[in-house]
Amino acid sequence: LLGAYGNELKMSVYVVGGFVRDLLLDIENYDVDIVVEGNGIEFAKYIGQQFDAIVVPYEKFYTASVIFRDGFKIDVATARTEYYEKPAELPQVDISTIKKDLYRRDFTINAMAIKLNPSEYGMLYDFFNCQKDLEQGIIRILHNLSFIEDPTRMIRGVRFEMRYNFKMEEHTLEVLKQNLEGGYLERVTGARIRQEIEKILEEDNPMKAIRRMTNLNMIKHIFPKTYYTQTMDEKLARLFKFLPKIKERYQSVSDFYAISTILLEYYDKQTLETVRARYGYPKKFIESIKFTENIMLPLKEMIELRLNFSDIYKVLGKANPYVYLHLSAYLTDEGQSYLLQYIDTISSTKLQTVTGKYLMGKYSLKSGPQINEILEKLFAMKLDNPNIDEEKVVSEIIE
Ligand code: CTP
Repeated sequence: LLGAYGNELKMSVYVVGGFVRDLLLDIENYDVDIVVEGNGIEFAKYIGQQFDAIVVPYEKFYTASVIFRDGFKIDVATARTEYYEKPAELPQVDISTIKKDLYRRDFTINAMAIKLNPSEYGMLYDFFNCQKDLEQGIIRILHNLSFIEDPTRMIRGVRFEMRYNFKMEEHTLEVLKQNLEGGYLERVTGARIRQEIEKILEEDNPMKAIRRMTNLNMIKHIFPKTYYTQTMDEKLARLFKFLPKIKERYQSVSDFYAISTILLEYYDKQTLETVRARYGYPKKFIESIKFTENIMLPLKEMIELRLNFSDIYKVLGKANPYVYLHLSAYLTDEGQSYLLQYIDTISSTKLQTVTGKYLMGKYSLKSGPQINEILEKLFAMKLDNPNIDEEKVVSEIIE
């Protein structure tokens, strides 16, 4: 249908990029990217009218999103080549043909289009031997400036290698290494790097991706003071084992932050401050890495020896998910499962009858640290013994 509407507007319409790649690989993909030769926004608005869909145009980029009533979304772009009038300026967008559009893309496997207009419906447009690369499992850049135009493509390259078990082709790898050493990754905002890392860690085998990035010396350009060692590798592998358990309990946990607890260990204050500014870690996050680092060895012992929760609580308290993850990297399977019990006990334990109000009323205590201390003590005891009689125990504590 999109193609038929293209005809009505006298525009050629193509589906491009990841959708075509995955279609040829026989993999499901609901990310539909459309490119039209003509005005993409005009096309999107026309489609919007036909289907009573919502159209969100981005005038500056000649692109638009069309969101259908059932939630399905397509992105529409105008076939274009971006060129820079002066290096520091925003790209000028020039309306041009599909071939040039495809040439500006990251890798050959993502640079094919399928035409949707009725007369040529389903025709594959493959100008750069892309299909052959796809069949042979090769990740290849289309031109030598690919990584310079968008340095996050270096990380994308690894992501596609991992996801499809493909290999970067030799020349591509060479250009990647040159651009990496040229400091191009450092020119990208921390937010975009973080986004790409989050994506790569969402793939099936995050450890494999991290190892590949390490072998390519990429980690160094993301975390400048990280020396990837065998021990670090083992810790990360332990952390990834625990991660799903934490994610079940804390939905918003970020993989990037999770690995940062290990990758930023033993950073000096100043470098920590630099990476904090770059990647936008909250101050609290950095503080908690340091906190965990300092108590790691005793805590590890306490957990492996399965000491009482109340004793662990005195050192660890009710921590945030990243502290738990950090700690999990040091634990055996048994230690991890004890830690999980601790986490669940902490979150399910609540004082029922004894509250601050109760203490102020019954014992005429003034609000302040003393009340907190008593409540904490009682809470710790309840961790070991959920059935204690709170009022009785509190009277003993006070006397
Ligand atoms: N693209 C590019 N350079 C980038 C990002 C994207 O050239 N840095 C192009 C590629 O042609 C890609 C398309 O834009 O196929 C869509 O990008 P995106 O949706 O980010 O990725 P997909 O290839 O669809 O991959 P995924 O399956 O991970 O979504």
